[in-house]
Amino acid sequence: SPKLFIYDLDGVITDTAEFHYLAWKKLADELGIPIDRHFNEQLKGINRMDSLDRILGQATSPIDFSEQEKIGLATRKNGYYLELIEAINPNYILPGIGDFLEANKQSGIKIALGSASKNAARILDKLELTGYFDYIVNAAEITKGKPDPETFTAAADALNIPYSDCVGIEDAAAGVEAVNRAGMFSVGVGDDAHLSHADYLVGNTQELEFQKILDEFENN
Ligand code: G6P
Ligand code: MG
Repeated sequence: SPKLFIYDLDGVITDTAEFHYLAWKKLADELGIPIDRHFNEQLKGINRMDSLDRILGQATSPIDFSEQEKIGLATRKNGYYLELIEAINPNYILPGIGDFLEANKQSGIKIALGSASKNAARILDKLELTGYFDYIVNAAEITKGKPDPETFTAAADALNIPYSDCVGIEDAAAGVEAVNRAGMFSVGVGDDAHLSHADYLVGNTQELEFQKILDEFENN
């Protein structure tokens, strides 16, 4: 059986995508750049600076910002985001995830968080889930964001576990690609249109069953 489960945060454990969207939307409005929720799908799993670049790419006439100005814009967005996530509490844990984490813990199989978010530890604390985790990847130390496998390999390396013994759970296309490229077993949460490359796919978090994933891993 696997030795490590690596969880994505946004869209798997809690749904902060809407908060990210509202914060980016506020910044984009200030810059006069049109973005909508449909475009936001492309930002899922993408780190802060890469997200900013994609948003700037939506400008109707190209705007040229220096690296320093871009850092300022990303920091402004994060300020908006931090205000929005103040309200997060354990009620924001996605359906089924509490039981799933509990089953993972009971099995003795290790648990890591592989999120691109620099706010991940703060959010886990607000959800009161920190105690479940053997390791939390520090997004600030990751040089290549998803779809690069680095976020996932960093967790396995830190716990000294071979990649082929790991399961990665993801809701984003870029995240599933990262898990696959790490040589790990990928579990997708979402629809087939975005996540057909997952080794095993469920429609939503409520459909995640711990034993079923262990079986799928063995059959792979
Ligand atoms: C997650 C979200 C992205 C977000 C990224 C960075 O991957 O899905 O939408 O941009 O984390 O989050 P941060 O909190 O560091 O800005
Ligand atoms: Mg996600």
